[in-house]
Amino acid sequence: MTTDSTATGESPVQEGARSASADRAPGSWLPDLGSEPTPGQLLSIRHVAKHFGPVVALADINLDVPAGQVTALLGDNGAGKSTLIKIIAGIHERDGGAIYWDGKLVHIRTPHDATQLGIATVYQDLALCDNLDIVANMFLGEELGRFGIIREAPMERKAKETLTSLSVTSVRSIRQPVGSLSGGQRQGVAVARAVMADARLVIMDEPTAALGVTQTEVVIDLIRSLAASGVAVIVISHNLNDVFAVSDRVAILYLGRLVAAGAASDFDRQTSVEIMTTGTAAGAGNGTRGAGLSG
Ligand SMILES: Nc1ncnc2c1ncn2[C@@H]1O[C@H](COP(=O)(O)OP(=O)(O)OP(=O)(O)O)[C@@H](O)[C@H]1O
Ligand SMILES: [Mg+2]
Repeated sequence: MTTDSTATGESPVQEGARSASADRAPGSWLPDLGSEPTPGQLLSIRHVAKHFGPVVALADINLDVPAGQVTALLGDNGAGKSTLIKIIAGIHERDGGAIYWDGKLVHIRTPHDATQLGIATVYQDLALCDNLDIVANMFLGEELGRFGIIREAPMERKAKETLTSLSVTSVRSIRQPVGSLSGGQRQGVAVARAVMADARLVIMDEPTAALGVTQTEVVIDLIRSLAASGVAVIVISHNLNDVFAVSDRVAILYLGRLVAAGAASDFDRQTSVEIMTTGTAAGAGNGTRGAGLSG
């Protein structure tokens, strides 16, 4: 059981689904998370900081990421979104702070460390091999087989099952080269790869940025299926339509600081844009939302 033993005397850490409006300080869009990991959260980030030379990319970041939900990470260009997910994915090492996974302190120093924990990152410019087919891409480096002989049939079966479970059913053949797929289908293959790796947290950086309307819907459905299967999802997106179509939670960075976090229903587009561009918005901290705020 975690108690908030910090010397601030602020509100205690609450368990379970937190209402952003209930436990944040007056005038703030941030819940007070204290210094300990929140029980029941898959990922708890505490006081994480990162600088590049004189540039403070992240300062004192506190964020909880629950399993089975989609957390949108928002912020203007240069706010620190990519830096934060690269720290979680083991690409950058943090300068300070702590990361807890299932409530336990972890040190994610390399991408391999992140993979071992069950963290998968899907980048917009997807790291897929265009000349290989879908099955080969899904099993790249993890081929099934014994004594150096790759067993194609079980790989095909597993690939098909995973794609179907994610409702990626529009591909002609799982033996078609990935280079011939649409953006949405490629996104599907990349996510299926993460699912097959038994990822417990999938991070997606701008998953819909290059996609048309129909493909965007495919990816949004994919993100929903992932969360419904119990996976924690962090989505970075500049498209607030997508964000509000798919997110359960919202976290907003401003100039390297986390300035807002909470249930997506506590935010609307206008408020989010205001916070993204100024670091704050009217109406925080009083525990009551104005009319139309969740529209
Ligand atoms: N490798 C690096 N070396 C030096 N500075 C960096 C590096 N990576 C990021 N920064 C700086 O850190 C800050 C945060 O950058 P970051 O890429 O995290 O922003 P972002 O929120 O992802 O922005 P965008 O929406 O444009 O992708 C910026 O000021 C950026 O210039
Ligand atoms: Mg970025």
